[in-house]
Amino acid sequence: MSESPKRLKKKNLSNKEKKGKLLFQSPKGMRDILPDERPYWDKIEKAGRETADFYNFLRIDTPLVEFSEIFERAVGGATDIIEKQMYYIKSRGKDRLALRPEGTAGIVRAYLEHGLSKTAQPLKLYYFGPMFRYESPQFGRYRQFYQFGFEILGDKDDPIYDAQIVLAGFRLLEELKIKNLNIEINSLGCKNCRSNYRKKLQDYYKKNQNKICRDCKRRLSLNPLRLLDCKNEDCQQIKSKAPVMLDHLCSSCKNHFRGVLEYLDELGLPYSLNPYLVRGLDYYNRTVFEFSAENYGISLGGGGRYDDLAVMLGAKHSLPACGSSLGIERVIEVMKNQGIAGLTKGRVKVFLAQIGQPAKKRAFRLIEEFGKAGIKIMESFGKESLKSQLKIADKENIGIALILGQKEVFEENIILRDMKSGAQETVPLNKIVEAVKRRLK
Ligand code: HAM
Repeated sequence: MSESPKRLKKKNLSNKEKKGKLLFQSPKGMRDILPDERPYWDKIEKAGRETADFYNFLRIDTPLVEFSEIFERAVGGATDIIEKQMYYIKSRGKDRLALRPEGTAGIVRAYLEHGLSKTAQPLKLYYFGPMFRYESPQFGRYRQFYQFGFEILGDKDDPIYDAQIVLAGFRLLEELKIKNLNIEINSLGCKNCRSNYRKKLQDYYKKNQNKICRDCKRRLSLNPLRLLDCKNEDCQQIKSKAPVMLDHLCSSCKNHFRGVLEYLDELGLPYSLNPYLVRGLDYYNRTVFEFSAENYGISLGGGGRYDDLAVMLGAKHSLPACGSSLGIERVIEVMKNQGIAGLTKGRVKVFLAQIGQPAKKRAFRLIEEFGKAGIKIMESFGKESLKSQLKIADKENIGIALILGQKEVFEENIILRDMKSGAQETVPLNKIVEAVKRRLK
């Protein structure tokens, strides 16, 4: 005997379904942004756009997917991002693609690809979008997260651009009213001073080899600067006595760094020197910095100078450039923590109630007529009774209710009710938009 379709369906159910549980959730470390969080995103996007506009940054959008080699070359082989966190894409083609773990490498690729050096320099660009890193999700750390970033590319390696990049990110955080901000800053020098320093660092860590974690032992030969990036508790003691880069800068890098700090001083920006700040990406030279807020243990954003990134991606000449990006989820967490509200939308001031099918149909059209006049209408098409509809208008604190019943549609009228006083008047349907406009004034 063959099984009935119902029996078959039951048999094929997964254990989750059998227990009445949801079959699917969003992937680990990736979140839905629900409408109640939207006001924070809107506020950040608006403030970001205004800040970018004020400092003359132009918007750029690059694909979420790039050739993985771009990141491998730019971010660096011995970094956590490349070793552990890249989302490689399996496609039907042979291209080795990856979801972007950050935005800067793609922007430099686009700059080179489109010959943007021929436009007015420096080219100031900004972006806002999701990045992907296969991290262990925890507080403030997601696998899909958003960044708002600023980049200045081309012209000279003038320290004023480093300062302007710090300033743009800082102003955006300030614009959002985030309090107790700090900037940690350091210089990684150039290739020359860094190679001397790297040697010193290696010598020091070699002497302490038996006291460092397994990852650091590997970093010691592969990429010694990454030793300073280690978050392992056991390595902190060793790190705190390690030689510092600032003592090993060549005179040109020293002058550059002094220049950056002088510009920051000029504006009174609150920075502190952190000689162990190296950042988790290999493309930086000279200035590196991070933003933080008091009582929030992880960085809100960071950046630095990356003059060699273009060459890493195959350009013949280096391209003076610097940039930064803010982690939007973290910024929102701090806003919530500090009691900062999101962007509030303009309140709806008019409610349209309808009773009966002909009125519902006419109301449907009337809303469009209000729309053309720029007046937003709230309705509740799902509710039948006038009482329940007016209850909503009341709850939403709406001042004007329009009531359309069968009789009104037939007579081409509508009732205008002042929700506060309860006073009502009948207005011809073809004059109602004007009448409401006058009242709203
Ligand atoms: P980054 O430090 O890797 O730099 O990321 C910048 C910011 O993105 C971090 O400070 C943090 O706020 C946020 N972020 C990073 N990873 C996560 C995560 N897993 N979950 C939530 N937020 C995260 C860069 O990406 C560079 N491209 C910045 C830059 C621009 N440098 C020059 N130009």
